Amino acid sequence: MSDKKNIITIDGPAGSGKSTIAKILARELRFNYIDTGAMYRAITLLAIRNGVDPEDEETIVGLAKKSVIKLDSSSADENSYTSINLNNENVTMDIRSAEVGAAVSIVSKLSGVRKHLVEIQRSLTSNGNAILEGRDTGSVVCPNAILKIYLTASLKERIKRRKLQLKGKGQASDDAAIKREIQNRDRIDSTRKDSPLIIPENGVIIDTSKMAIKEVVEKIKNLYNERTDFKNKA
Ligand code: DC
Repeated sequence: MSDKKNIITIDGPAGSGKSTIAKILARELRFNYIDTGAMYRAITLLAIRNGVDPEDEETIVGLAKKSVIKLDSSSADENSYTSINLNNENVTMDIRSAEVGAAVSIVSKLSGVRKHLVEIQRSLTSNGNAILEGRDTGSVVCPNAILKIYLTASLKERIKRRKLQLKGKGQASDDAAIKREIQNRDRIDSTRKDSPLIIPENGVIIDTSKMAIKEVVEKIKNLYNERTDFKNKA
């Protein structure tokens, strides 16, 4: 157990509650919050802005390697996004556009993009005390994390949450379109060849469909405390 890093990973499908939970936990545990999805979104934005086809791996990897992505989660609370800087420009809201949302699953299939971002993500966690959130953070990025969570929720609940999120942003929503978007992302994210969304080895599955946010946070904190107690006694 002693080689386990003080890192918590949270993976799961869109709408399972990962970001909200990860941000609260990071604040309460004083951990660094690493939103890996935001990094895939930033590379996708880079491709769109440069007019590159989202499947053109070589060009996208070339652009990514010449770029600097910075995450600043210091002010992130559960109602705001991690602040993202791409080549010194704040793109926090740009990476949340529908256009980026539609292309991000395609760009994140590219192995070269994944390799590049996984390296950055690992360097961000080298000091421990981090919470990573994404699709492969427990299976690929930090398989040695002290606690690996797989969050999930029913499709119905995930549609409801996405609707609320859009409403909060003052955007119109259509149930059928949201359902299609979520199912499409689930399919691409879990069937891609490189680092598909899976339950990581020794991962703890938490179905959040009928749980309040607070309950999920407490459950993860208890699991984390049990593991660190065990580690300190070992
Ligand atoms: O968590 P999100 O919705 O912001 O993630 C956007 C996309 O990025 C998601 O559909 C798949 C991809 N992604 C990934 O492939 N691996 C990660 N670790 C995180 C996100």
